[in-house]
Amino acid sequence: MSGPVVCRRQGPLRGDFEVPGDKSVSHRALLFSALASSPSKVRGLLAAEDVGATRRAVEALGATVRDEGAFVVVEPPERLSEPGDVVDCGNSGTSLRLLCGVLAAIPGLSVLTGDDSLRRRPVRRVMEPLRRMGAVLHARDGDRVPPVVVRGAALRGTRHVLPVASAQVKSALLLAGLFADGPTTVEEPHLSRDHTERMLRGMGVDLRVEGLAVTVAPGRPRGGTVEVPGDISSAAFFLCGAAALPGSRVTARNVGLNPSRTGLLDVLRAMGAQVIVENAVDEGEPRGDVTVVASPLHGTAIEGALVPRLIDELPVIMVMATQAVGRTVIRDAHELRVKESDRLASMGEALVAAGARVELFEDGCIIDGPTPLSPVAVRTRLDHRVAMSMAVAQLFMEGGEVHLDDVSCVATSFPSFFRVLDRLTESSTSLSPTGREGRADSSTSLSPDGGKGGLPPARGEGRGEGKR
Ligand code: S3P
Repeated sequence: MSGPVVCRRQGPLRGDFEVPGDKSVSHRALLFSALASSPSKVRGLLAAEDVGATRRAVEALGATVRDEGAFVVVEPPERLSEPGDVVDCGNSGTSLRLLCGVLAAIPGLSVLTGDDSLRRRPVRRVMEPLRRMGAVLHARDGDRVPPVVVRGAALRGTRHVLPVASAQVKSALLLAGLFADGPTTVEEPHLSRDHTERMLRGMGVDLRVEGLAVTVAPGRPRGGTVEVPGDISSAAFFLCGAAALPGSRVTARNVGLNPSRTGLLDVLRAMGAQVIVENAVDEGEPRGDVTVVASPLHGTAIEGALVPRLIDELPVIMVMATQAVGRTVIRDAHELRVKESDRLASMGEALVAAGARVELFEDGCIIDGPTPLSPVAVRTRLDHRVAMSMAVAQLFMEGGEVHLDDVSCVATSFPSFFRVLDRLTESSTSLSPTGREGRADSSTSLSPDGGKGGLPPARGEGRGEGKR
């Protein structure tokens, strides 16, 4: 689905669902396989635009990637080589930052760029530590934002102490460490997602974890089979929606349960939701089925080490918090300001425009609930998680509509999102706001020129007109 849509569904959310493969694990599966000494097979790879960007990038570096039934097979070249053209990472920060670490060691010149959103996202955080290893990188606007130009160089094993917990930066440095002349250590203030550590170890790399410090020895991964679990960050939209929508019960099948990613389940429980984990399997990347049953929710505090464990889920957690009794406080989440959009600003504005009580501060917000939400027109700002979170917010509008100005961004991580949402709301019918009876589980695509009577103005362009 692309362009503007009007969301017009009614809950509760009920049923089982599967989500596409984990985005972080999918990027790593392609990239690490491309570096390996032998071919790899990847099952469950996310088929979405962000991972497509990594796929095209590794092909440009000489790997062959082909679909074979349920698997994607990656055949690495003898050595990765200078790409013949600028590498376009689209909307994907993970592709761009992880590639910086690899390209830093590939002889030749590489240029990494991306879409309007990615070309606003910070890269100094990855360039500076790479430079300490001897890498040669330059970026636009005083080394602040992409495009990034990388010239391959000999790298030194180095010890890094990161000021922020960032899995992308940690991974880029560990990847550069594979090519360095000695061990590379990365220490972070809190644990960020550890898919890189697990996968590299699974591929035979000498990698040790001591507390919050990871040390990698130079070496080449060997190919193997990678199983990609469902993406808990995608499941989060329905788990949070179900927790807060009376009468809901949903089960996400086969989702990743890596503890560095399951902060959401801790928050759901802390807010009073019923969370049941079943069929858990713990090999490489833990996975299992997660059921959430609606319960009366209350506010909670989200801060410190919990934040990196749910950083991508915060937009939809903010939606859920508007329905909880009392105060939810989110702190230490400054990183939200440098995601696909400034998510504190995007979500804060959208929810306030919908009638929620949200106070923003630099590294978080306070949300007081519960508040009924009203129809709203949302500018998605090329941010998939803002679009999907506000589609979930619509379920709390009792038949009211959410106008999303552009949902093409949803294809970056979860192209089937609206279909899953339709299925989980399928059992509900409702009276539309005009009194016509109909299925409430529909999104109406609008033509780019705003056909079907046109969109109400987006936020900041006369908001309020879309409200009841
Ligand atoms: C990711 C890490 C996270 C997350 C992003 C994906 C990754 O960012 O927000 O969506 O795959 O490494 P950080 O680098 O801030 O941890």
